[in-house]
Amino acid sequence: MAYQNLISEIKENILYITINREKALNALNRDTLTELADVIAFANENADVRGVILTGAGEKAFVAGADIKEFSDYNAEQGEELARNGQHHVFNAIERSSKPFIAAINGFALGGGLELAMACHMRIAASHAKLGLPEVTLGLIPGYGGTQRLTQLVGKGKAIELITTAGMISAEEALKIGLVNHTVSQEDLIIKATEILNLVKQRAPLAVSAAIKSVNAAVNEVNGYDVEISEFGKCFETEDFKEGVSAFINKRKSLFKGR
Ligand code: HXC
Repeated sequence: MAYQNLISEIKENILYITINREKALNALNRDTLTELADVIAFANENADVRGVILTGAGEKAFVAGADIKEFSDYNAEQGEELARNGQHHVFNAIERSSKPFIAAINGFALGGGLELAMACHMRIAASHAKLGLPEVTLGLIPGYGGTQRLTQLVGKGKAIELITTAGMISAEEALKIGLVNHTVSQEDLIIKATEILNLVKQRAPLAVSAAIKSVNAAVNEVNGYDVEISEFGKCFETEDFKEGVSAFINKRKSLFKGR
């Protein structure tokens, strides 16, 4: 499969996907999301694929979030559309896949990047990785399922602290709170992910699929995700959103007014 923003390769029944926009820290622009949706659909339909490992190009970033430059002039409707489309075709498609997806977090996993890692069934972080949901610094909230999945993974108290402070945590701290399954050195990242999928590959595929479906069913997702999408859209109507994005693009500190 030839993509502009992804590298994908099947080796011994494992599909390796690398998000390849290193200069923009692998930020998820529209084209990358479209390609991700395509490769995920391929993985789901192709019987040769028994598991997927998702990572980012380079050693600096897994994914530094949704592409801020692309949504800087969005209104509420476009914001909702962005969140809904992404959640449907990429984030929920990963979570609901019958095949295990592992996020191999090779650096910054921020905003939509951490949300992408959280949509995967397992997460392994390189020891230098930094994780966080900094959307409130832009006058936004997580819109790719982050408010729901972070709460499911680490509990409500930690989730609210991380989201409202926009704090970035280390791989070690992420391991401690249950946000990642393992931390390893950068060199061992893909090796560890491959080892786990090699174990899963030996198990009964239909049982693996049933297990993923059942674990997903343990958390009631539907309503919370809709609330998040609608609140995410509303953020685009605020002056603080325009201020947050303008401050990021112009590399200055933002001055929020609460309106
Ligand atoms: C677009 C981005 C980007 C992003 C980095 N870049 N993150 N472009 N969208 N999310 C670009 C920078 O503009 C810069 O381009 C280049 O990548 C290198 O980044 P620097 O900022 O120069 O690197 P550094 O100073 O080392 O800082 C690294 C960083 C910082 C701490 C990760 O880049 C950062 O804070 N990025 C934004 C993180 C963020 O707020 N993510 C959440 C986005 S909102 P130039 O052209 O200047 O070289 C989101 C919403 C999800 O994810 C929900 C949607 C529905």
